[in-house]
Amino acid sequence: MYTVTFVRPNGERVPIAAEDGANLMQLAIENNIEEIVADCGGSMSCATCHVYIAEQWREKTPPQGPTEAQMVACAIDPSNDSRLSCQIHISEILDGLVVTLPESQY
Ligand code: FES
Repeated sequence: MYTVTFVRPNGERVPIAAEDGANLMQLAIENNIEEIVADCGGSMSCATCHVYIAEQWREKTPPQGPTEAQMVACAIDPSNDSRLSCQIHISEILDGLVVTLPESQY
């Protein structure tokens, strides 16, 4: 079991236990992280699962493909730290991952 910490816009930190292979978006939904909307259910067509992952962690995540990059550009307030949480699966290398949630998905 690994730990992922979601950081809310108000700075509240919410640590959540994650099994190997867990999908980051699903983890948020299952744990009532309401900042993650995930309208499309993970089919990479909504960008409402947008999160910010700082560079030191982002380097450990799978690289962003062209479709994800296009969708991230549609998110509210995208930055270099932007990722779609539905495209990230937790593994040992991401144990301790810190994910910052956006103010809004719309
Ligand atoms: Fe829609 Fe991730 S849930 S793009």
